[in-house]
Amino acid sequence: MRISVIGCGYLGAVHAACMAELGHDVVGIDVDPAKVALLSQGRAPFHEPGFEEVLRRNVEAGQLRFSTDFADLAGAQVHFVGVGTPQVQGGYAADLTYVRDAFRSLLPFLGEHPDGPMLVVGKSTVPVGTAASLAAQVRPTGAHLVWNPEFLREGFAVQDTITPDRIVYGLPADPAAADAAREVLDTVYARLLEQDIPRLVTDYATAELVKVAANSFLATKISFINAMAELCEATGADVTQLAEAIGYDDRIGRKFLRAGIGFGGGCLPKDIRAFMARAGELGVDQALTFLREVDSINDRRRDHIVNLAREGLGGTFENKTVAVLGAAFKPDSDDMRNSPALDIAARIAGEGATVVITDPAAGPRLQAERPSANVAPDAHAAAAGADVVLLLTEWQQFKNLDPATLKDVVTTPWIIDGRNALDPATWRAAGWTYTGIGRP
Ligand code: UDX
Repeated sequence: MRISVIGCGYLGAVHAACMAELGHDVVGIDVDPAKVALLSQGRAPFHEPGFEEVLRRNVEAGQLRFSTDFADLAGAQVHFVGVGTPQVQGGYAADLTYVRDAFRSLLPFLGEHPDGPMLVVGKSTVPVGTAASLAAQVRPTGAHLVWNPEFLREGFAVQDTITPDRIVYGLPADPAAADAAREVLDTVYARLLEQDIPRLVTDYATAELVKVAANSFLATKISFINAMAELCEATGADVTQLAEAIGYDDRIGRKFLRAGIGFGGGCLPKDIRAFMARAGELGVDQALTFLREVDSINDRRRDHIVNLAREGLGGTFENKTVAVLGAAFKPDSDDMRNSPALDIAARIAGEGATVVITDPAAGPRLQAERPSANVAPDAHAAAAGADVVLLLTEWQQFKNLDPATLKDVVTTPWIIDGRNALDPATWRAAGWTYTGIGRP
């Protein structure tokens, strides 16, 4: 099928490449000429394992093109919209500017298609009710709108797109339109549906809510275990054992119960805030008051690390050197949006410490974006002369560090393991003071 994907950020670029991988003829549209130039050469504009291979293969095969010109999407039967919905400046709500701009630019190209009904497929995470209002714009053109949320995780983006846990179609209320739209989208995803990936058919509002409900649940799970870490810190208990023990109950499950410095990234924080803002508009803000607490618990973890380090350094960061291992919001990514690691590093630098930071993927990007930052090429270089080492993003390279050789370069062998990623016994045996999160 001929497909366009509007918005070539994390979601859109991966979606475009994966649709080409499924055998479709795809054009990706983005307003950023630099991004389009890179993608057109088969080069990934961000770090994502496995993505560049899929991208390059399909660009070279002529199955995948990128352009800044909306006119290049003419001829496509299915148009995916995967632009960003960031948090508004000075508020909690989602900023829908990019979604509205994308639809405004797309509308003139909608109409009859020789191969069947034309489809607009929204993938962006939007406040519930958005699809219904956009459908009113799309309907007069004869095209149908489907809301088809995306659940991909950074670091697993290709796998999550080609073999998702589930596919959700939010379809129009009109039964004939819904049938026509479902049939076209089933053809797009035929190779996924053959693998028996569950496909749920809902109305627009449910599809929009599925996405934010899923992210709210994940954020709640992380903040729950971080709240337990606060209890463990007050009592001398061990949150990693607690998580393991409760996780054996398969109603609870072991995933997303890693206590640490909390969640960040381009999705979880802004999605729970936008959800609260939307609930307020709908007059049901009480239903989501708990998310405010989820957000506060998450923020407190960042404060906790800063306080721990300051106390251990004698009450001040002045004249101290702090090594920070990790800048990305999670490993296998160079994404630093709302990164807990970067936030903690910035706060400590703001209190007068010399902070040296390293990250295998995000390091070069950080140096380019903030030329004044002290970015080191690796953990040993970052830790040279450090009074404390903070492990804040659990890259495999950091988990594999040899405590004996790292000890040789630091001033004081003290490590705060913000992700509970290291084995305390090994580090203590090598002569380090080890401080974890919610563990004695
Ligand atoms: C998330 C959702 O998982 C995904 O389904 C959605 O489509 C987009 O948002 P992502 O932002 O890529 O994906 O990251 P995720 O793996 O969910 O991690 C989010 C944050 O939570 C990271 O900062 C991570 O370090 C943190 N985290 C995760 C924890 O602190 N503890 C955990 O147990 C798990």
